[in-house]
Amino acid sequence: MAEEILSLEEKCAALKRMLRESKEETDYYKRIAEETGKRRVRDIHELSRLISVQKTAQEERAKLEVKLRDAKKMEAIATLAGGIAHEFNNALFTLFGSIELMQMDLPDQDIVKKYTETMKKSTHRMANLTDKLLAYAQGGKYQAKIIPLSDYVEETLPFLTPMMGQSIRIETDLPRHIPNIMADLTQMQLVLSAVLTNASEAIEGEGRIRVSVKEDNIDEHYVKENPDARAGRFVCLKVEDDGKGMDIETQQRIFEPFFTTKFQGRGLGMAAVYGIIRNHDGWITVDSRLGKGTTVRIYIPVVQHQSRKSGSPISEALAGRGTILVIEDEESVMDVARQMLQKLGYHVLESTTGREAINVIESSASDISAVLLDIGLPDMEGSNVFSIITKVHPEMKVIVCSGYSIEGPVQKILDAGAHGFLQKPFSFTTLSEKLKEVLEDKQAFN
Ligand SMILES: Nc1ncnc2c1ncn2[C@@H]1O[C@H](COP(=O)(O)OP(=O)(O)OP(=O)(O)O)[C@@H](O)[C@H]1O
Ligand SMILES: [Mg+2]
Repeated sequence: MAEEILSLEEKCAALKRMLRESKEETDYYKRIAEETGKRRVRDIHELSRLISVQKTAQEERAKLEVKLRDAKKMEAIATLAGGIAHEFNNALFTLFGSIELMQMDLPDQDIVKKYTETMKKSTHRMANLTDKLLAYAQGGKYQAKIIPLSDYVEETLPFLTPMMGQSIRIETDLPRHIPNIMADLTQMQLVLSAVLTNASEAIEGEGRIRVSVKEDNIDEHYVKENPDARAGRFVCLKVEDDGKGMDIETQQRIFEPFFTTKFQGRGLGMAAVYGIIRNHDGWITVDSRLGKGTTVRIYIPVVQHQSRKSGSPISEALAGRGTILVIEDEESVMDVARQMLQKLGYHVLESTTGREAINVIESSASDISAVLLDIGLPDMEGSNVFSIITKVHPEMKVIVCSGYSIEGPVQKILDAGAHGFLQKPFSFTTLSEKLKEVLEDKQAFN
């Protein structure tokens, strides 16, 4: 019995153990199955990710190949167009000149005049066409000026709109605060005229053209999508029309010289625009849908140095002559003051301490026209430097410079006889005016 019970207990225990083990085994297999499943799912995800990466890379490569082919094609046509245009221009010059000489020599008979005038008109037309071909080939004349594009468009539009039908409404958005661009005015007029003419020709009956200018910061993401583009600050001229739009083939061929869908078109407008804008370091995009209209965007880089005076000589009114002693201990301030004075035409002597300045005055006072005295010197008080200068050279013109206002130490030196005060930071014009005032001996206090 005991044996039976025991064996029963044993059986129970064995059964329990088996059950536990089988559960553990089941759990183990379950876990394995789950992990394998997860891994499979992960593998499938990874695989599909790799496939899509590869697909995107292939698509990008295909896009770039098309662009490269297009660019090469445009380059080849540009070389051809440029070559023909140069030859044509020479021939046209000979032709036109000969006609004029002939007109001078021939008797002023009506019939001769009539024929020669027709010949002249034709050479003019050819010259105009050659100009566009040259513009496309980027070999045109190029006289760039810094211009605010909004102002330019506003001034030019009134000359272009009369050519458009009465039924076309022109809207503009030409803000004033847009940075300047560097552009050839004659070529920009050609660009505006070509794009606006196309827009108006695309409108049958009533329609609207919107011309706007804005600043655009081009990022790397945009450049990836538009290989003609460059990253940076650009001004964008946008011309939108709600005309008949274009199909894909026309869009692809729009910049080809002599490509036209118009009965009397020459197909040179957009080719010239393309060459001109590339010549201005910019690019063009055309978005169009059949029956919906077209948007042309023209990007031209912002001029980095906005000052219109840059590089121009200093005006007569500001320029001066003579030697100025600058007493200033701070290097960066000295640098700027020196450059400003030199630009104005003055010769500059420099001292970084009161002692040094006094030595300079003692040795070459007669050559010095005026002194710019900073009052915060490391070795001496400004008022002491001033009194020594005036002792050595009572007629010396001294202008006190300080970051502080006129009260206190500055006023003390002015009361003691200094000729003027310049509060830092001072502008180029303020410096020039103060020096002129003091050197020409006008009443100078402030
Ligand atoms: N805004 C637009 N809407 C619809 N189609 C346009 C537009 N701009 C250009 N196109 C299409 O692009 C083609 C080429 O334009 P492009 O200005 O170079 O030549 P064109 O207008 O045909 O002739 P032209 O030398 O007189 O300008 C046009 O014939 C037209 O099909
Ligand atoms: Mg045109």
